[in-house]
Amino acid sequence: MSRTPIIGGNWKMNLDLTEAQTLATEVRHRLSAYLGAQTIVFPPFPYLLPVAERLAGSSIGLGAQDLHFEAKGAFTGAVSAAMLTSVGCKWVLIGHSERRHVFGDDDAVVAKKLRAALNAGLKPVLCVGEKLEERNSGETFRVCGRQLRTALEGLTVSQLEHMVVAYEPVWAIGTGLVASPEQAQEVHADIRQKIGDLLGVTYATKVRIQYGGSVKSSSAAGLLTQEDIDGLLVGGASLQAEEFAAIVKAKG
Ligand code: PGA
Repeated sequence: MSRTPIIGGNWKMNLDLTEAQTLATEVRHRLSAYLGAQTIVFPPFPYLLPVAERLAGSSIGLGAQDLHFEAKGAFTGAVSAAMLTSVGCKWVLIGHSERRHVFGDDDAVVAKKLRAALNAGLKPVLCVGEKLEERNSGETFRVCGRQLRTALEGLTVSQLEHMVVAYEPVWAIGTGLVASPEQAQEVHADIRQKIGDLLGVTYATKVRIQYGGSVKSSSAAGLLTQEDIDGLLVGGASLQAEEFAAIVKAKG
C-alpha cells in the first residue's frame, strides 16, 4: 500500500507577522515544486490569512492549530471551524497534546472538535500520544487506543476520508528526546491495527499516520522509512525554512 508522505509544520505560538510571511514565502520557494510529499503549515490564527496569500496557487496546504466546537456565539477568544474555512484553511490539528495537557481539552472535547471540523469540511489531523509516566508504566497502547476510540466512535469511513492521525508521545514533544524509529513504528503499527478494528482494514491500510516529537532533518529519514510511519508533524524545526525543507525531502 503506497501512502503519500505528509509533513506538517506546527508553528505553535511563535513568530511575528513579518517573520510568518517570510517563513511562508521561503517554504513555498523551497517546496512547491517537490512532489515527493504533501506539505502543510499550521500558523497561529492571526497569520492564517496573510500566510494563505503567500501560499496561494502553490501545493503547500494551510491548517489551523485548533478550533472551538461551537459554530458561533458568546465564546470569547474562540475560533470556529467556519471561520477557519473562510480564511482559506483546509486542515486543522485536533487534540494536540498541548491542547490536551496545557489547556485541559479532554477526550470528550477532542471528540466534539473532530466532529466540528468534519462538519465544516476541514481535514483533521487527530493527535494522540502518551505521557512519560504512562509509557513507563506500560500504558502506551492503552492510552492511544482510548484517545482514538473516544474520538472516532460513531464516525464513518466516508466522514473520515481525509483524516490523518499523528502519534505524538508527550515526552518527545519539545524535549529533544525523539522516539527511536523502532519505538515509533511499534506504536504506529498498533494504532493502525486499532483503526482497523474500529473502521475496517481497508480504511486502516489507507489512513496516514504521522510521527511528531523533536523531529529534525537528522532523524527524519530513519522515521520515514518505517513501514507504518507515513509522515511527520514538526514543531520547533519547522520554524526554519531550510531545516523544514530538508525534513520534507528526507525520504528522497
Ligand atoms: P516539536 O513539536 O517538534 O517541537 O517537538 C512537535 C509537535 O508538537 O507537533
